[in-house]
Amino acid sequence: MDLVIEGRAWYKGRLQHVCIGVQDGLIASVKKSLKAERHLDYNDRIILPGAIDVHTHMREPGMTHKEDFATGTTSAAFGGVTCVFDMPNTRPPTIMREDVLEKKEMAAKKAWVDFGLFGGVSDSSNPQRIMDSVIGFKIFMSSTTGSVLLAEDKDIRRALDLIQPTKKVVSVHAEDEHLLLKRQDAGLVQHGESRPPLAEASAISRLADRSKGMAINICHVTSQEGLGALAGGSFTSEATPHHLLLNVTSCTRKGFCKVNPPLRRKEDQEALMAAFADGRIDMLASDHAPHTTDEKERDFDQVPSGVPGVETSFPLMMAQVRKGAISLERLVSAACARPAEVFGLRKGLIEVGRDADLMVLDPRQVGVVSGRRLHSKCGWTLFEGHEAIFPQAVFLRGQLLVEDGGLVGERMGRDVVARRRIPT
Ligand code: NCD
Ligand code: ZN
Ligand code: ZN
Ligand code: ZN
Repeated sequence: MDLVIEGRAWYKGRLQHVCIGVQDGLIASVKKSLKAERHLDYNDRIILPGAIDVHTHMREPGMTHKEDFATGTTSAAFGGVTCVFDMPNTRPPTIMREDVLEKKEMAAKKAWVDFGLFGGVSDSSNPQRIMDSVIGFKIFMSSTTGSVLLAEDKDIRRALDLIQPTKKVVSVHAEDEHLLLKRQDAGLVQHGESRPPLAEASAISRLADRSKGMAINICHVTSQEGLGALAGGSFTSEATPHHLLLNVTSCTRKGFCKVNPPLRRKEDQEALMAAFADGRIDMLASDHAPHTTDEKERDFDQVPSGVPGVETSFPLMMAQVRKGAISLERLVSAACARPAEVFGLRKGLIEVGRDADLMVLDPRQVGVVSGRRLHSKCGWTLFEGHEAIFPQAVFLRGQLLVEDGGLVGERMGRDVVARRRIPT
C-alpha cells in the first residue's frame, strides 16, 4: 500500500470512520484500520469522493483570453472537482476528428485534473468518426454562446440516429429555438422573457420519444415547465448552482447575471431546489462558462451569456448541506456518484477499485466566496460573499493536489476516455 488516508469518509452510503488504502492511484482497501508507509490522519474531518463536473467550457482553443485548460482545471481542483467534461463550442468547435484530437493534446499538456471532451454535432457531421475519442456528444437546440445549432427535428433525428449505435450519452442544451424571441434585450427580465420556460419545456418534450432507447441528458434545467417535461421521458438531467441558488430578482449584477437558459423567478428556483433535493435532478453541473469582466460590462444586449462556476459549485452546495437544505447523500450522489454512473467512469465513489480521487473538508469551517481568491482566468463570480465550504485537501488518483489553499502536486490530469474500449 502506498498511502493510507484516514477520516470520516462517505462509505457505503453513510459517514464512517475508516482508513482508505491507496495503491497505484486506485482505492485498494477500505478498513477500520490499515498500515502503510505514509499515513494521513484527518481525524473527524469528512472525506468525500472528488466531484465530477460534467458541464464546463474551458475555452481552449480559440478563447483563451477567457480561460484555458490550465486555469480552468486549477479552478476545478480548488473546488474539489477532480474530473471535468469540456463542451465543444470552442474555436474551432470540436466536431471534426482532427479538431477533437488537437484539443485532446492541448488538454493533456495543461490539465491539473482528469478530463473528458464532448464532441459537437452539426447538420452534416458524422459523430461516429469521433465516438472513440469523446466522453459524449453535445447538441445545442438553440443558439447560445458560440454554438453550432441543431434546431430542426430532421437534423436532430439524423444526429440521434448516428449517435444511438455508439451508446454514448447525448447532452442537450434544451431550449426550443423557434420559441425564442429574437430581439434586443434591455435587461435581465427581458432576457428571461425572450427565452421563456416554455421554450425549455418544448425542447425537452421534442426529445421524449427518443429518450427510451438512448442516453439523453438534459443540461441546466431551470423551470417548473422544464421539470414537468422531464417527467414525460426517461432522461438524465443536470442543474447548476446559479439556477438553484439565484433568481432573476436576487441577481443584481446586470450583464454578469446573463446566462442561457436565463435565471428564473423565485418560484422556479424553489421548484428546482426541491427537485434537486428529492433526486428528480440527477447531477450537479456548473456549466462553467467564463467571460471577461470587459465583455460582461458591455451594453446588455452585447453581453455574452454565461457565468463561471466550476470552483464554487460543490463548496456552495456543501454549505446548503450544512444549512439542512439538502442531504449530504443527495449532494454526493449528484456531484460524484451519478456523474460516474451516467458516463461510465471508475470514479465518484469511495470503493475498492475506483480512482483514489478524494476531497477532505471540515463542515464547521464555513467560509465565503471571494472572487479575488478564485482561480478562473475571468476573475469574478456571481456568488461574492455567499457561504461556502471549500475542501482543505484534494487528491487526484492518490496524489495530493490541493492542500491548505495551495496547489502542491504535479500536473497529471489525463483523458478519461483514452483508456476505454471502443464500443462494438
Ligand atoms: C455557454 C457559453 O458561454 O459557452 N453560455 C451559457 O450561457 N450557458 C453556452 C451554453 O452552455 O449555453
Ligand atoms: Zn426552424
Ligand atoms: Zn447550454
Ligand atoms: Zn454550457
